[in-house]
Amino acid sequence: MSRKNLIAGNWKMNTTASESVDLINEINSIVGQQTHTQVCICPPFTSLQKASGLVEQSAVSLGAQNMSAEPSGAFTGEISASMLRDLYVSYVILGHSERRQYFGETNQTINKKVLAATQNNLKPIYCIGETLEERESGKTLDVVRSQVREGLESYPVSEIDNLVMAYEPVWAIGTGKTATDEMAQEVHAFTRTLLSELFGDAPASSVRILYGGSMKPENAKGLLSQTDVDGGLIGGASLSAKSFCSIVEASINS
Ligand code: PGA
Repeated sequence: MSRKNLIAGNWKMNTTASESVDLINEINSIVGQQTHTQVCICPPFTSLQKASGLVEQSAVSLGAQNMSAEPSGAFTGEISASMLRDLYVSYVILGHSERRQYFGETNQTINKKVLAATQNNLKPIYCIGETLEERESGKTLDVVRSQVREGLESYPVSEIDNLVMAYEPVWAIGTGKTATDEMAQEVHAFTRTLLSELFGDAPASSVRILYGGSMKPENAKGLLSQTDVDGGLIGGASLSAKSFCSIVEASINS
């Protein structure tokens, strides 16, 4: 099954609302009309409202970086799925390793968010990946297996087209170290096998699996040419329209 690549920019805790406007205008002017590769930007919550107006007329989609599993109520500081939908957000990054590391998120708490997202017509970008210590002790596939099985527990096969996975080796995030093309392909293929076990071969073959971790214009083409790499989740390089759009162009040509 052919899968349309997705290049998503994870802006993390960067850009004020007015800085976001400049960045989005630049991205829109370079790749806003092409439809070969799906492009998504995930600015901070405080920029979503402005962003949603700016991407309305372009092919760029909007994503959030996190959300609550709760629908509403006394959860000070949290943002719900329906609040995101109200701003025309389509995607939400869930289970990013920074959320796991600094905010205590676990496969179980992330699972609740993944289910809440899909119940509200948001497409989860579910992040998985091993630490350096786990890789060096030969545990990469075990860690990924638990993250996939526990994080996707009870995920309905009817919503499979909305699911996006992101393999992000923790040791490659923001470090300048990238997984080799072969390392990425190995874990991506393994992830697809796990998805086949959960959902069946045909549904699993429709899921996009993004690579994240120091993806840049220089290494994007090699990674994106791998059979099971269906796009990228870009951190640092997404804060410059020029480098982000070069990755989009690499995806179009891969
Ligand atoms: P990076 O971040 O591209 O800066 O390594 C990727 C991510 O954390 O999603």
